[in-house]
Amino acid sequence: MAAAPVLTEPTLDLSWLDLYEDPTNATPGKKGLTLKEINLGRYADSARGGGDMTYRLRGATPRPGAHRFGANYQSKAEVWSDNCLMLYEEAVQRQWSSARDIPWDTLGTLPDPMERAMCQLSTMLTEVEFIAGDVPGQFLAEVSAQDFEVGLFLMSQIMDEARHTEVFRKRALANGGGLLAQGQNGLRTLIEAKNFTEMSVLMHVQAEGFVQSMFRLGEMIGHTDADKRIFRMSAQDESRHLAFGVMHLKYVLDTEPQRREEIHHYLDKADGDGGGASGDVQLQEVFESLCILLGGGIDKFDEGLQKFLVLRKRQVNEYMHRLEVAGLGDRRQRVGPLLAQFLD
Ligand SMILES: [Fe+2]
Ligand SMILES: [Fe+2]
Repeated sequence: MAAAPVLTEPTLDLSWLDLYEDPTNATPGKKGLTLKEINLGRYADSARGGGDMTYRLRGATPRPGAHRFGANYQSKAEVWSDNCLMLYEEAVQRQWSSARDIPWDTLGTLPDPMERAMCQLSTMLTEVEFIAGDVPGQFLAEVSAQDFEVGLFLMSQIMDEARHTEVFRKRALANGGGLLAQGQNGLRTLIEAKNFTEMSVLMHVQAEGFVQSMFRLGEMIGHTDADKRIFRMSAQDESRHLAFGVMHLKYVLDTEPQRREEIHHYLDKADGDGGGASGDVQLQEVFESLCILLGGGIDKFDEGLQKFLVLRKRQVNEYMHRLEVAGLGDRRQRVGPLLAQFLD
C-alpha cells in the first residue's frame, strides 16, 4: 500500500484533530449500545453545563459564532427525568403496527349495542390520543440540545400517540360502526399548559395515568381478541409516558423543592375538571358506553355501572399512588372533591 501523501498545504488548519485528550470508548451492554452506554465522562447528563440556546449537543465543543435559536430551557430540571434514556430505548424496541399486530378478523361477533359502545369509546380515544401527540409536540423546540434524550423520548411518545390515534380510528371503522359523538373541551388544560413541568404533570402523570388505569382494565372493556389486544398494546406504550412524568416530577421536587406549591396549583386547576383526560369519561355518551362494555350488554347496565365506579376508584387511587412515588404525597390532603370522593 502506498504511503498517504503528506499534507503540507499552508491553508489547512487541522487543529480540531487534537481537541480531545479524553477518548471515549463506549462498550455495548446487555441490551446493545444504548444511550446509557454512551452517557460517559463529559458526555454524561451529570456533566451538563449551562444551556446556550444553540443546537450544540452535550459534549460538543462550543463554537463562538454559533447561532442562537429561540429560547429553550436553560436549566436541566425544567425537563429532565432520570429514566428518559431507558424509556427511549424501550420505545424503539417495542414499536408495533396496528395494521399487522391486531387480530382484526376476531371483531365480527359483537352484538350491535356493544359494537356501538366500543365505537363511542374509540371516538373519544381517537380525539384524546391525537391531542396527546400535539401536547408534547408543542414543547419539542423548548428542550435544550443539552438534554437531547428528553427530546428523543418526546419524539418516541409522539410516534406512540400517532399509533394510538390510528388504531382507535381503525377500530371505529372496522366493524360496521364508525365515529360517533366527539368530546367536549379538547383537553383544554393540557393544550393550554405553558410550562414543561405543568404539561408533564397534567398530561403524563394525571391524564395519561387515568387513561392507563382504563387500558389496564381492557380485558373487561374489550370483548373480542382484537379489542383486548388494542388495549394491551396501548397500555404498554402508556406506561412509558407515565413513567417519564413520574420521574420528571420527582426530579423537579428533588432539585427545586421551591416549585412544590406551583405544581399544586396546576393540579388544583386540573382536579377541578375531574382529572385530565378522564373528564371526557363523564360525558353522557362515553359514560354510558363504558357501562355497557364493562357490564357486557345494555341489559347489564347496572352491573356495568358498578364496574365503572370500580374503574374510577382505581384511576384516582393509582393516580394518588404515583404522586406519592414522585414525592407529592401531600396532594392527598388537597385533592378536589370530584376526585376525593373516590380516595381509599
Ligand atoms: Fe396514547
Ligand atoms: Fe400516552
